[in-house]
Amino acid sequence: MRHYAIAAIPADGIGREVVAAGLEVLEVLAKRDGGFRLDVENFDWGSDYYKKHGVMMPADGRETLKAFDAIYFGAVGAPDVPDHVTLWGLRLSICQPFDQYANVRPTRILPGIRSPLRDVGPRDLDWVIVRENSEGEYAGQGGRSHRGFPEEVATEVAIFTRAGVTRIMRFAFQLARSRPRKLLTVVTKSNAQRHGMVMWDEIAAEVATEFPDVAWDKMLVDAMTMRMTLKPATLDTIVATNLHADILSDLAAALAGSLGIAPTANLNPERRFPSMFEPIHGSAFDIAGQGIANPIGTFWSACMMLDHLGEPAAGARLMRAIERVTADPALHTPDLGGQATTRMVTDAVIAAILADNE
Ligand code: IPM
Ligand code: MG
Repeated sequence: MRHYAIAAIPADGIGREVVAAGLEVLEVLAKRDGGFRLDVENFDWGSDYYKKHGVMMPADGRETLKAFDAIYFGAVGAPDVPDHVTLWGLRLSICQPFDQYANVRPTRILPGIRSPLRDVGPRDLDWVIVRENSEGEYAGQGGRSHRGFPEEVATEVAIFTRAGVTRIMRFAFQLARSRPRKLLTVVTKSNAQRHGMVMWDEIAAEVATEFPDVAWDKMLVDAMTMRMTLKPATLDTIVATNLHADILSDLAAALAGSLGIAPTANLNPERRFPSMFEPIHGSAFDIAGQGIANPIGTFWSACMMLDHLGEPAAGARLMRAIERVTADPALHTPDLGGQATTRMVTDAVIAAILADNE
């Protein structure tokens, strides 16, 4: 029997509801498979923890997490705690020290889901966005001086290192190579940002020579929004900086039907630290506690976690179950225009797992 230690951090808002649903589904999958077991430990870190203890997670929290094979994460953010506190206190303080430098965001139009784009069907939109996840605009460099005075200044410095850019380019080219179309689009803004982004482009061209079988092109990020919207079928694998990919992945999720569906893997590809899997939607306090959050993004993130753990058959079974459920409009949550609850979708996915005979 293969064992995997999973740290579950549901954190804030609907994060709790969707992670609870995800853990239920994972439990059923493991039983159905019979070959592996997940030993899950739940951590109550997040904004409520912050209100009690003044920190989002305990000082030794990261040390604790090191012992796990993967982290299953919900969402951070609360209406009464500043966003930069919740984000840097938990999510980024796991991603960055654990060197989860490759953030992978697949986007597809699942069966039964309608894209807001006219005449765009499932085969016209099948992307994976690779987000640089350790530096760039999220490096945390900068500061503020002369606070409150008219001459107050603030700097927000984007950091691009040769090592950081090279490894994310290699990761993206490799991922592109593993997909049928072997096609990579490198997103840039080297017309306006003439230092970091120019180096980014140069390194892309260098790394490309290691992958002669991958076709690649370059897009300025502003023009990229138009290409994603008007010519989605011309894209496959996409690599972009931390901030550019953050923005493009919300657009991608919307074009694929809902933010509630989109999954993420924060990978440390060398496996020196645990990787982290989470839906890309936020804590959505407006609907928290109502039992109507869409758990599909969290389920799809579980597929990515299973792949990473080395259980691709269980991951594929879960993906088939997800697609069977999204195909039925009666099982769509309100973000998809339906009336289903988290419970109904979860039960239906569990039933589909049990009925799956492949
Ligand atoms: C994401 C989110 C986060 C980000 C937020 C919660 C700060 O939007 O994962 O895309 O910007 O990285
Ligand atoms: Mg985002």
